[in-house]
Amino acid sequence: MAIKTIGIVGAGQMGSGIAQVAATSHFHVIMSDISEALVERGKSNISTSLDRMVQKEKITPPQKRDIMDRIEGIVDMGEMKGADFIIEAATENEGLKLSIFKELDGICGKEIILSSNTSSLSITKIASATTRPEKVIGMHFMNPVPAMELVEIIKGLATSDETFRTTKGLAEKLGKTPVEANDFPGFISNRILIPMINEAIYTLFEGVGDADAIDTVMKLGMNHPMGPLALADLIGLDTVLAILNTLYQGLGDPKYRPCPLLKKYVDAGYLGRKTGRGFFSYEKT
Ligand code: CAA
Repeated sequence: MAIKTIGIVGAGQMGSGIAQVAATSHFHVIMSDISEALVERGKSNISTSLDRMVQKEKITPPQKRDIMDRIEGIVDMGEMKGADFIIEAATENEGLKLSIFKELDGICGKEIILSSNTSSLSITKIASATTRPEKVIGMHFMNPVPAMELVEIIKGLATSDETFRTTKGLAEKLGKTPVEANDFPGFISNRILIPMINEAIYTLFEGVGDADAIDTVMKLGMNHPMGPLALADLIGLDTVLAILNTLYQGLGDPKYRPCPLLKKYVDAGYLGRKTGRGFFSYEKT
């Protein structure tokens, strides 16, 4: 079956980024969230991101309008029935994802692939909430989605080869480079990235350097495009903490224990760019 319409669950920074890329690649997009306000915020983020591309003369204003027109915002999940392929990009919370997959399983036709943009949770477990585990797969995009080339593709225990091939082909149609990873906590990307970020937070916590020094060392010394603390602010400190807890619990090794400073920041509501404050301060947009 040809994929024409992609259903995206969640209009946050990942969901809206995926929606933008899919609509730019000429797919019709159905993007859902739990309220009209969240759907509208997602659309507004896409509009701002496309404006930057217009300014850089990568797309024209009419092209921007066409892309926006291909994105349909919904709050009633029942409308996901019209989608040929689902990408779930809700909050990184296992209970929430299990309930969304159970709901999607009841809504979408039996032939539809249900993929998750989870950054660390078990695809095998998510698939168990459905009656089609062979059609459940991980499709992990990187943030900011329009700028990052990678998509990690993760097969659960029961995922079929056909589901893998279709998902890989879709990632390529979205202009991304797919890489296969096995279903382990954090897959490849976050197994490596998140402990580095946690160590940077410990480095701050223990007073080895201040936030500017830590990020400057990694930018100028290791040629990273941004420092680990600024990257944590971009990802969202709540998401970084959730991934660390998944690594810690899933792999059982104390080297993954989250730094107390990270927990404190999350408790305080310092979640990074999205709240205007994390390890650095940001003007709220
Ligand atoms: N939306 C759309 N495009 C964006 C963008 C956004 N939010 N942010 C940047 N871009 C694009 C720009 O348009 C620009 O494109 P061109 O080169 O084609 O003109 C390109 O990205 C570079 O942007 P800028 O010149 O404005 O800024 P920069 O050179 O400082 O790069 C960056 C910004 C791409 C974010 C860069 O700093 C970077 O690569 N940082 C690391 C990001 C990273 O590691 N992401 C992975 C996070 S981990 C993750 O997502 C997985 C997880 O599960 C936690």
